[in-house]
Amino acid sequence: MKELSKYLIAVDGGLKNGEITTEVPYEEVMRLVNEPNIVIVKNIFPEETLKNAIDATLEWSKKVPLNEEQDDFVSNSHKRRLHIAKIQQAPQLFHDHTFDNLLNLEEPYKSAILAIFDPIRKFWNGLTGNSEEFGHKKGQPYLHPQITHYPMGGSFFGRHWHPLNPQKVGLITALNKYGRDYHSGGTGYVINDTIIETEGFQDIGDMILFRYDLPHWVSPSSFADRFSWDDPRGRWVAILPFYDPWGTPAEKDEPQGWKTQITTATKAPAAV
Ligand SMILES: [Fe+2]
Repeated sequence: MKELSKYLIAVDGGLKNGEITTEVPYEEVMRLVNEPNIVIVKNIFPEETLKNAIDATLEWSKKVPLNEEQDDFVSNSHKRRLHIAKIQQAPQLFHDHTFDNLLNLEEPYKSAILAIFDPIRKFWNGLTGNSEEFGHKKGQPYLHPQITHYPMGGSFFGRHWHPLNPQKVGLITALNKYGRDYHSGGTGYVINDTIIETEGFQDIGDMILFRYDLPHWVSPSSFADRFSWDDPRGRWVAILPFYDPWGTPAEKDEPQGWKTQITTATKAPAAV
């Protein structure tokens, strides 16, 4: 383990027989997340697996028309998000690909995308004590695997948060390489009035873990580049939200009480 900056901890990771490994037990990882800290699990996925997932997503998205309608939360669909979220007023500009029917996606896309999401699903189950499979469930939370593309030239996601439960821990996997495939933009957080920017710290194949009710955002890709929805360059990430789309949304006020809840995170963990 290594403390990269205040509240930002790197943990060595890996992938063995389709399962994500961490240098400390999952319970210890969750203790660090809940303290709270932002935890980066390093080097989980090989580059080839990640590239296959991006290529499959791109190829699939060229065959399937953009979703211009309301989300139905049961299909595989992709959408250009450009709006201000109704309740939280968070502005956003990115292209998401949500595989709410992943197990029925056609091959070879399904295998390429499951190669990252199956380990992520098992990891989240292991961290949270769940045993969720993919597939929608009416009236209950279910998994919404999503691959998000932040194009060059001004994509971003404004400060927002989520209810802590039932997700507990948010997971963001970097599918491509900072400094080579894109050169600006990353997820930021605030803990106890301290801003934690992960841009430059999360490399390809690393996964960020964060307590799900922490306010967070995605800093913009540089405006020095020309923006184009059709340019596949830019930052690509995979996330695995778990929620009931017909349930109660997060409130408009940010979660309160952080300063009183934090008792141990002010003690910096020993760098190893
Ligand atoms: Fe979020």
